[in-house]
Amino acid sequence: MPELANQADLAHVHLLINHFPTIGMILGLGLLLLSFVRKNDHLKKVSLEVLFLIALATLPVYVSGQAAAETLKGQAGVSAEAVVAHNDAALASFIMMEITGFFAWLVLWRMRRIGWPTKGLTYTVLVLAVMTVAAVARAANIGGDIRHPEISGGQYAGLFGQSAGTPLISAAAIKDFVLQHPFVWPTCETLHFVGLCMLFGVVLIGNLRMLGIGKSVLSYSALHQLLPLGMLGFTVNLVTGMMFFVATPEQYTGILFFLKMDYS
Ligand code: HEM
Repeated sequence: MPELANQADLAHVHLLINHFPTIGMILGLGLLLLSFVRKNDHLKKVSLEVLFLIALATLPVYVSGQAAAETLKGQAGVSAEAVVAHNDAALASFIMMEITGFFAWLVLWRMRRIGWPTKGLTYTVLVLAVMTVAAVARAANIGGDIRHPEISGGQYAGLFGQSAGTPLISAAAIKDFVLQHPFVWPTCETLHFVGLCMLFGVVLIGNLRMLGIGKSVLSYSALHQLLPLGMLGFTVNLVTGMMFFVATPEQYTGILFFLKMDYS
C-alpha cells in the first residue's frame, strides 16, 4: 500500500504546517501596520519579505491538504461536506495569498531600484493582506470543523456560524472546466513550458552572470530589470500548474508522482 503511505505522509505534513499561512499572514500584516505607525522603511521591508515567504509556504499547505482529503475519504467522524467547503475556501484563500505575495514582491523589487517602498503599492499590499487574513482564517476555521465536531457545533459552512452559501470559487467547477474541454489541458501544458523557459532562463542568466560570464555585456542593474520576466514565468506556471492539480489532485499526491520524482 505505498500509495496510501505516501498520502498519509502528506496528510501528516498538512496537519503539521496548516497553521503557517494563517499565523504567518497575521504576523506579516501586524509588522506592516507597525511599520506605518513607526514610519520605518526597514520594518516595512521585513514585513513584505514575511508576506512573500508565507505566500510561497502556502503552496505545500494546499497540496498536502488534497492528500489529507484522499486519506480521510469515507472515514467515520469526518464530514465530507466540510471537506468540500474547506477545499473551496482554501482555494480562494490560496489565490488571495499568491496575489498578496506577488504585490509584496513587486514593492521589494521596486524598492531595490529606487531605495524606498512606493506608497500606492504598499497600501495595495496592506488592503490585500487584510482581505487575505480574513479568507485564510475562514479556510482554517472550516478545516478545524472537518474532524472536530466538539468545536464546530455543526456550523462548518462559515466563520462566526453564518452559512457559506455558494462559494466564490469552486474546485469542482475548475475540475469540470479542465477535464470537459479538450483544449484546456494542452493549452495549459504549452503555457506551462513557456513559463518554465522564462523562469529557468532568467535563473540561468543570473547564475552565469554571478560566475562572471558576460560581465562586459550585462550589468547587475540590467539583470535586475530581467527579474519580472522570471516572475511572470513563475506566475504562468503557478496558474497553469494549479489547473492541473485542482483537476486531478490524486495524480500528484499518489505513488506515480513520487516515482516520477524518483522518491523511494
Ligand atoms: C490555504 C490552504 C489551507 C489551509 C490554510 C488549511 C488549513 C487547515 C486547518 C487549520 C485544518 C485543521 C487542522 C486541525 O484539525 O487541527 C485543516 C485540516 C484539514 N484540511 Fe486543510 N488547509 C488548506 C488546504 C486544504 C486543501 C486544499 C484540502 C483539500 C480538500 C484540505 C484538506 C484538509 C483536511 C482533510 C483536513 C482534516 C485533517 C485531519 O483532521 O486529519 N486542506 N486544514
